[in-house]
Amino acid sequence: MAGSPEQVSTNSNSVSSADRAADPATKDEVSNQAHFVVVANRLPVDLERLPDGTTRWKRSPGGLVTALEPILRSNQGAWVGWAGVADAHLDPVVEDGLELYPVPLSADEIAEYYEGFSNATLWPLYHDVIVRPEYHRAWWNTYVEVNRRFAEATAEAAAHGATVWIQDYQLQLVPKMLRMLRPDLTIGFFLHIPFPPVELFMQLPWRTEIVEGLLGADLIGFHLPGGAQNFLFLARRLAGQQTSRGTVGVRSKLGVVQVGFRTVRVGAFPISIASGELDEQSRRKSIRDRAKQIRKELGNPTHIMLGVDRLDYTKGIDVRLDALYELLEEGRVDPEDTVLVQLATPSRERVESYVRMRGEIEQTVSRINGEYARVGQPVVHYIHRPIPRDELLAFFVAADVMLVTPLRDGMNLVAKEYVACRHDLGGALLLSEFTGAAAELRQAYLCNPHDLDNVKDAMMHAMHQSREEGRRRMRALRRQVLAHDVDRWARAFLGALADTGAAGPALITPGEENQD
Ligand code: ADP
Ligand code: F6P
Repeated sequence: MAGSPEQVSTNSNSVSSADRAADPATKDEVSNQAHFVVVANRLPVDLERLPDGTTRWKRSPGGLVTALEPILRSNQGAWVGWAGVADAHLDPVVEDGLELYPVPLSADEIAEYYEGFSNATLWPLYHDVIVRPEYHRAWWNTYVEVNRRFAEATAEAAAHGATVWIQDYQLQLVPKMLRMLRPDLTIGFFLHIPFPPVELFMQLPWRTEIVEGLLGADLIGFHLPGGAQNFLFLARRLAGQQTSRGTVGVRSKLGVVQVGFRTVRVGAFPISIASGELDEQSRRKSIRDRAKQIRKELGNPTHIMLGVDRLDYTKGIDVRLDALYELLEEGRVDPEDTVLVQLATPSRERVESYVRMRGEIEQTVSRINGEYARVGQPVVHYIHRPIPRDELLAFFVAADVMLVTPLRDGMNLVAKEYVACRHDLGGALLLSEFTGAAAELRQAYLCNPHDLDNVKDAMMHAMHQSREEGRRRMRALRRQVLAHDVDRWARAFLGALADTGAAGPALITPGEENQD
């Protein structure tokens, strides 16, 4: 989840600030090696250093953690990842029931591997070059080095024959590196963001290395069939070419790539949320009371619109603000009876494009309020910090129109969370066609975020839908979201991975553990 601030635990002893290696002898309660290992750039919790010198874990941001945490819990596996701060040399630790294997990153590595290559090269390239990707050899070299460190840490954490599930664009070289270190493992890879069309991917100076890195996996998963097809096309085009290290023979057909004697499977697995749980939680009286209170605190307006995002230029926060501004200008929206609440978790705050976008968004918020607010009655309520989970659910329950307007998004879990929270069949979802979620949530008010008039019209329709129309749409949306939850996603991926033949022990997903 994108930075819910809840503190997970306070612990000044589990952290050694010295350069302690992950020595299995010092693992205490951590099992020696795990049969199921998730590998992601971030651990599910970030380490926070407090002014008094103690540390605590808090939930880390993003949809990846929202989706994977329950899966790891029910498989009693290990999670290999970065603790979110520089130079944290931590021993493996069990934290809130999760077995964590922290991978240290120095300040320079954070700048070059995370902020640089991952978030100023790959992120914009994979999101249709909304901002211009930067290509720097130094960043690439650090990306290779850090991927190697993740591969080594995983090789240490995984038991013989274990199943390892590597996540996302920050770690695309790990599958191949890990296979070379540990050929006994079954390796899956899932990309949580879009995989770009060939014309864009070919810009990348290290395109061959990335494709070869991914082909180290037994199964490579994408959200949508389009991403899987883009990758299959590239695998055929690039990995079969002569490289500096010789030729890798690749034959591919849809779903399968032959790499020498190995068969790599490629497929689409649209990710989801723990929708049943969310449905249940959102029915709680405390959440419903809080939702009513939120409406009251906002002045009981007729229309409450809501945005919930990491503050990222892909999310189209500017699009919805611009649309609202024009609607106010044209008198189609009345500032007396409409508010927009934008909850924005801080994200990648040292990356230049994010700094610029934040300035622009905050300026637009000020402009709207400057021109249309009354004292004590802003039109846009903008909160730039993570919101606790229960509070977030109350906002979903309170909102009449959920605005999800990304220019590009692999899936967008917020759209699904909103739907899961609306058992009352109230509310309306406005959803960009350029999200993975739009492939499933067809009864949303779909819009093209590049066409402002289209967004404005969709907003107006969503705000003024009849009760019957709203219930009809929400019922259909909920049917989809409740039936296709994160368990189903994990079962589909892990099942396909087990079927690749190199399978380790059978894995369970949440919901199955209590079934005999
Ligand atoms: P991404 O993975 O790109 O951040 P998603 O929409 O897929 O986008 O997932 C975002 C996750 O973070 C969701 O679980 C959402 O509820 C959570 N989230 C987003 N914004 C906030 C916020 N302001 N406060 C708390 N949680 C947030
Ligand atoms: O899938 C999107 C993603 O980049 C995840 O990999 C990540 O956990 C999340 O968004 C949050 O981003 P970051 O880790 O850069 O804060």
